[in-house]
Amino acid sequence: MRLLELITGLAAFAGVQGASVGTDHQIIKRASLTQVQNFGNNPSGIKMFIYVPQKLQAKPPVVLVLHACAWTAGNFFATTKYGQLADQHGYVLIYGQTPTDGACWDVSSTQTLTHDGGSDSTGLANMVRYALQKYNGDASKVYVTGESSGAMMTQVMSAVYPDMFAAASEFSGEPAGCFYTGTVRGWNSQCAGGQLHKTPAEWAKQVHAMYPSYTGQYPRMQIYHGDVDTTLNIASFNESIKEWSGIFGYSGNPTKTQANNPGAKLTRYTYGDRLQGIWGHGIGHVVPTNETEALKWFGITS
Ligand SMILES: *[C@@H]1O[C@H](CO)[C@@H](O)[C@H](O)[C@H]1NC(C)=O
Ligand SMILES: *[C@@H]1O[C@H](CO)[C@@H](O)[C@H](O)[C@H]1NC(C)=O
Repeated sequence: MRLLELITGLAAFAGVQGASVGTDHQIIKRASLTQVQNFGNNPSGIKMFIYVPQKLQAKPPVVLVLHACAWTAGNFFATTKYGQLADQHGYVLIYGQTPTDGACWDVSSTQTLTHDGGSDSTGLANMVRYALQKYNGDASKVYVTGESSGAMMTQVMSAVYPDMFAAASEFSGEPAGCFYTGTVRGWNSQCAGGQLHKTPAEWAKQVHAMYPSYTGQYPRMQIYHGDVDTTLNIASFNESIKEWSGIFGYSGNPTKTQANNPGAKLTRYTYGDRLQGIWGHGIGHVVPTNETEALKWFGITS
């Protein structure tokens, strides 16, 4: 009994100590990733987490980050550097999360592939609208990025909300609309297997149909893919390049090729001012996020 009391007492003491250290730490501590409830219409019940650095720009940019299947906002936040970089550069950071742990983003339903048509894309758009309003954000500086399923969703958001995003950077995804099945969170094995091929004009037509009344500019797009990816076939790279070349009216042939750029084992192809493809040599699924390069591409850093 006494021993138990002692142990309990020690634990409580340790707890108090821990808390006071934590409090001291708070003064210089970073902000934390916090869940936001009620950010607007959210038809599929996805979750919003926000990181607002202590030193925010007067009209901050907003960066939306999307995890892969089987990930959560919290663990993707913990393994990416966007939080530390937000402390340095003063942007608002949103990590979206799928409705159930481990779920993929809905990149396959008619709803998600339609501007304000429902499902995940509508919820994500409303997270951005909420953040812009609440933190006096700069609507001309909104960006999206993600890995794998989050990369597919990055392309979907760029196609469905071209008016919202200035630039996008995706790591190992698929062209917007390629995963279409007509069902929510469907798996399109033809697309994933690299058997779905379209011309730039056909892809562009499909993208335009997601927001038919829109006549403005589409976000600048950066596409990464590894040449030994067996989860999302390596053909995805060319199909994505064709899709956005179709949108931007580019030939689809690189105007510039740079080896070991932006890093080892990567080749950067430039197709025009608004489109780059980065091909990973000996890299499977996924090409790891390069936060520094993404922020440069967005124009948050130079
Ligand atoms: C992608 O397109 C390039 C240029 O047309 C071609 O050389 C390459 O083999 C294609 N890659 C794949 C994986 O089909
Ligand atoms: C990330 O990109 C930067 C350039 O923006 C480059 O210097 C760095 O080497 C890249 N990191 C990796 C791991 O490729």
